[in-house]
Amino acid sequence: MTEGSPTFGQWAQQVQASIEEALAQVLPAAQIAPQRLHQAMRYAVLGGGKRIRALLAHAAGELCGADPTKVVRVASAVEMIHAYSLVHDDMPCMDDDDLRRGKPSCHKEFDDATALLVGDALQSLAFSVLSSADLHDDPQQQLQMVQLLAQASGSRGMAGGQAIDLASVGVALTQEQLEFMHLHKTGALIRASVLLGAYCSDKGRSNKSDAATLSALDHYAKHIGLAFQVIDDILDSEGDTATLGKTSGKDQDANKPTYVTILGLSRARTLATELYENAIQPLAGLDNNLRHSTRLIQIADYIMQRPY
Ligand code: IPE
Ligand code: IPE
Ligand code: MG
Ligand code: MG
Ligand code: MG
Repeated sequence: MTEGSPTFGQWAQQVQASIEEALAQVLPAAQIAPQRLHQAMRYAVLGGGKRIRALLAHAAGELCGADPTKVVRVASAVEMIHAYSLVHDDMPCMDDDDLRRGKPSCHKEFDDATALLVGDALQSLAFSVLSSADLHDDPQQQLQMVQLLAQASGSRGMAGGQAIDLASVGVALTQEQLEFMHLHKTGALIRASVLLGAYCSDKGRSNKSDAATLSALDHYAKHIGLAFQVIDDILDSEGDTATLGKTSGKDQDANKPTYVTILGLSRARTLATELYENAIQPLAGLDNNLRHSTRLIQIADYIMQRPY
């Protein structure tokens, strides 16, 4: 970032507009059969969400000198996995939430079976985008990226974290167990967003100088991913439904263990701040005259201060 470069707000808006366009293009048109499924996929993905995962991929990509036209495609794959996880998360068999991104949840607007299939189809489409032949010059590197997203989404990542979440209703988890759950259900996909952005550049091809960058990015991603879910827990207990765009107080109503129930609000906030400080600490060492980690720090600030 140099003098005269866009403010964080302007930069974020640009990224959000470009991810929206990429998603609108890659999702099948609502007129294509089966129309109802395609309508529901577009409903679940487009016109909502903070696009934090896309912002993270772009910031990491910029730091590593990646081509943004490649990063936006990778980011669209992650955002589709994320949107699918939200569609399923809201279903009656999971959190049973009627509101998402300020609109009726996908299963409320459509129906349960359609919502189930939306998740299935979004997951397939995400991997189709990520494995497109023209996405990366280095097929070996691209294969590693497909693996990374698969692991981050699967039973040792997001889906596994969701399973632990459901099994933890009414259970008094230790802080360590809660951290394990959060690192999986939310942290894994956030970590993947950062690394996939970086892997769009040559930085993914390991040599000595790149190892330091990747390790700082990985450290940042793990800590900010956990901070993200601590803040999500705090917002669930403190935010109002209109601002959140999803039902507030849902965790307490469902008797879910969260950072707020385990630590209380004040200690949960302190923990989020510690995680934030820890996340950005190694980034300072990466700055050089050409590229800065400023965007990653600005995203971390946003994650901490966000109203929803
Ligand atoms: C909400 O994620 C679900 C969690 C993983 C905590 P976001 O807060 O990123 O949701 P959107 O994409 O902005 O709606
Ligand atoms: C959801 O966590 C995480 C995933 C969707 C993987 P939550 O259940 O806390 O998310 P919200 O609060 O409904 O967005
Ligand atoms: Mg949930
Ligand atoms: Mg939920
Ligand atoms: Mg939540």
